[in-house]
Amino acid sequence: MERLAGQRILLGITGGIAAYKCAEFVRLLRAEGAEVRVVMTAGACEFIAPLTLQALSGERVRTDLLDTDAEAAMGHIELARWADHVVVAPATADTLARLAQGRADDLLATVCLATAAPIAVAPAMNRVMWDHPATRANIATLEDRGTAILGPEQGDQACGETGAGRMREPAMLVEDLVGLLTGSGPLAGVRVVITAGPTREPLDPVRYLSNYSSGRMGFAIAAAAARAGADVTLVAGPVDRPSPPGVERVDIESAREMLAAVEARISGSELFIATAAVADYRPVEHAADKIKKTDEGERALRLTRNPDILATIAARADAPLTVGFAAETGDVVAYARSKREAKGVDLICANTVGHGRGFGDVASTLTVVSAGGERTLGPARKDALARELIALLTDELDARCRPAERLKQ
Ligand code: C5P
Repeated sequence: MERLAGQRILLGITGGIAAYKCAEFVRLLRAEGAEVRVVMTAGACEFIAPLTLQALSGERVRTDLLDTDAEAAMGHIELARWADHVVVAPATADTLARLAQGRADDLLATVCLATAAPIAVAPAMNRVMWDHPATRANIATLEDRGTAILGPEQGDQACGETGAGRMREPAMLVEDLVGLLTGSGPLAGVRVVITAGPTREPLDPVRYLSNYSSGRMGFAIAAAAARAGADVTLVAGPVDRPSPPGVERVDIESAREMLAAVEARISGSELFIATAAVADYRPVEHAADKIKKTDEGERALRLTRNPDILATIAARADAPLTVGFAAETGDVVAYARSKREAKGVDLICANTVGHGRGFGDVASTLTVVSAGGERTLGPARKDALARELIALLTDELDARCRPAERLKQ
């Protein structure tokens, strides 16, 4: 079966040694029925001849932004419109920086800026370059814009070092694209509800109680689940973050709004992942007008408990597989174990926050606590941890309900 039949894939090849693997990548994409057009940077042409890609894609390879002949046939804007999906593989550190900056000074960067199609990148570089804070920041920017980051993998590198930075193998990239484009990954047909971000508990029309949650973990998990083919609803508190591709997003503000949004969508779901940093308390009163200051030096604020969304969903008769998070500043696994029991949830993911850990995009670990024991994921950045978590949850779902039974449902 040609799983990418009729899909128009624009492959951008940039200047890394892994460029040689693109010959095989194009061959595999064509074998799946995709139409492939190739854009190469000047650096890529140093590693592999455009003629090779031309022969394999059956289309003229484009290398120059200012090529009058090529522009007369299919200009860069038409190329950008033609694509159903843009894949940049290998994506060098420089390419990631240029895409993050939104440059338009070569053909590939311009097409990436001009296209409305989803973009995926397969980074490949030396492990130190991959770990550099500049690359980390560029990846975070691209992820925030909804770019799918495919890999890199761990292993031996062309530079003689070993670590993260190898381009994903072409066959794996094809599987990623099949999942992204056709929603036929391991979670195809599975409905997943995810909460993310902080909540805001209003005091008056201009003030609220909230917390510093960035929503990054929940958004990364939503993106990973969607990439695995799941039908994802992301109930998000106020965060300045674009929705991951293919995800239904419901924006809410308060904990009670979050609970109502989740309850309205949970029926028929197989998986509920609560990553939101829900405010435990809300002000007893929500003043209709702005609260005025007084001459008193102190002022008390009366608070009342918010509903526990995770525990509420876990207590339902039709509860899906429930997954909570426990972010603590110490003793995380012990807290996670007792939280799992107290809330009656299937799995709790424990991570350490505070003291500079757990925020932003630094590598961290997640310890997943279940009735059967514990498993540690990472250390890895949040998007890689999210992928590992989704793989683990896919296994959990399969163990509960064999895929054949799932298909029958
Ligand atoms: O009780 P605690 O806030 O430590 O529990 C954290 C876990 O419970 C997270 O998964 C969080 O999303 C979820 N939670 C919730 N509703 C609340 C409080 C926490 O869903 N009111």
